[in-house]
Amino acid sequence: MLAKVRTCAVVGLEGAIVEVEADISPGLPSFTTVGLPDAAVQEAKERVRAAIRNSGCTFPMKRIVVNLAPAYLKKAGPAYDLPIAVGILLSSEQLSADVSQTIFLGELSLDGSLRHTNGSLPMVALAHHEKMPTVIVPEVDAKEASLIEGTKIIPIASLSQLVSYFRGEIPPPEYKPEPVEEYIQPNLLTTDMAYIKGQEHVKRALEVAAAGGHNIIMMGPPGSGKTLLARSLSSLLPPMTTEEALEVTKIYSVSGLLPTDTPFIRQRPFRSPHYTISNAGLVGGGHWPKPGEISLSHRGVLFLDELPEFGHAVLEVLRQPLEDRVITISRAQGSVTFPANFMLVGAMNPCPCGYYGDPFRQCTCSTGLVTRYQKRVSGPFIDRVDIFVEVPHIDYEKLTDDRLGEKSETVQARVEAARTIQHKRFEGTKLTCNAEMTPTEVREFCRAEESAQSLLKAAMKQLYLSARAFHRILKIGRTIADLENADIIKAHHLAEAIQYRPRRMIIS
Ligand SMILES: Nc1ncnc2c1ncn2[C@@H]1O[C@H](COP(=O)(O)OP(=O)(O)OP(=O)(O)O)[C@@H](O)[C@H]1O
Ligand SMILES: [Mg+2]
Repeated sequence: MLAKVRTCAVVGLEGAIVEVEADISPGLPSFTTVGLPDAAVQEAKERVRAAIRNSGCTFPMKRIVVNLAPAYLKKAGPAYDLPIAVGILLSSEQLSADVSQTIFLGELSLDGSLRHTNGSLPMVALAHHEKMPTVIVPEVDAKEASLIEGTKIIPIASLSQLVSYFRGEIPPPEYKPEPVEEYIQPNLLTTDMAYIKGQEHVKRALEVAAAGGHNIIMMGPPGSGKTLLARSLSSLLPPMTTEEALEVTKIYSVSGLLPTDTPFIRQRPFRSPHYTISNAGLVGGGHWPKPGEISLSHRGVLFLDELPEFGHAVLEVLRQPLEDRVITISRAQGSVTFPANFMLVGAMNPCPCGYYGDPFRQCTCSTGLVTRYQKRVSGPFIDRVDIFVEVPHIDYEKLTDDRLGEKSETVQARVEAARTIQHKRFEGTKLTCNAEMTPTEVREFCRAEESAQSLLKAAMKQLYLSARAFHRILKIGRTIADLENADIIKAHHLAEAIQYRPRRMIIS
């Protein structure tokens, strides 16, 4: 007899419905899986065989063929265990139920209990999109699955419980909605801005960056507070909207980084990978493409400390996702696209010894060494950076000043107000902040008053700015105007924006 059970495959971040067809026919006992299964799906046979036996059912000693359709879609991971087991139980007539409107997900352990499965959230989202009313998920993943409203979630602890439920021996297991706790990133060493002394212009630049989602690079001598300031940035960022939070949670769900007890990410991600990271670790990759750090910092911050140490090659791969805000990874079996809309924050010393250009301490590097060091960060990469600030040495008087600066909370309130203006501005579009504007939107929304226009014209000519720089200055000007709740961009907004232009410190 033939049985059909539905489940989901995750391709990139999107789910796709997969039909599991199980056919049992007389013949020598065999168990074949067809339809482009990977090694983990092939191994499902062993888990399914043991799980069925250990759940009080019989594993049919006949010729079993399981087809995973559509065949062009490569199936990976252990989430197919449960649908395969249910398919076999249905086709061997040990169960009878109408499962055409149900999606099954879950990895089986040998004793028949269901384990946590990565990617439950995108799979349930797909079920919702395809108007499938019911999804059966492992009990541990019910909280994560319940984030998608409007789909009935049936939490199942084991295969035997599922069998009893289908046979009508127990009432349908129900998921009792409970408040889903937020996932708090561990080791987020955030310092409140109030405790960072001096560096007022850097704090202001960080405020502008946070308000408009602009990229920022900080350059200065060792110990001047670059790392400290960058880490304080996460205390300035506004919370994510529910839609954004779901997007980010999906990425973490697919990557297997979502704890089952706190399966919702509300806080903007802050990722700071070490500079020994590989290209694949940064942008994503692997035989089965997995999201890299740029996707894990989607809607949040990617902090690259000691920027030149990342090396030329690694930084160059960032160029395309910095513009497109997505990354497409192509493999022989197809390509997947992950979102990568992150805010890049970089910190660097001006030279290997760290004191090039410092007014108080002599730099010991030769000009050639400084040039080589700074060239590790290429011109096109620097041109993609919106805001560039120098973080100078901080003197004793400022450091020992007892007065506290402005609290992060106060700055965050201003940032949030500016973001609200931007949300209103971009309503009905896919954009969320000023940094994402393309030339079309810049033309539409970045109107500058006459004196501002002539200032920009003079700057363009005298500083030999690129076309990208022109748009960038207007975008930053828009953010600064938003922070002041000004409709039109004024000359002093643009003057500040021009100050932030990326520049090199090399004299050669
Ligand atoms: N503005 C500041 N206010 C208060 N403390 C500071 C400030 N700047 C630096 N410090 C102190 O100095 C320490 C080092 O700062 P930080 O790690 O941010 O330096 P850095 O600029 O990243 O240096 P490096 O270039 O060597 O990485 C901080 O942990 C803090 O104790
Ligand atoms: Mg540092």
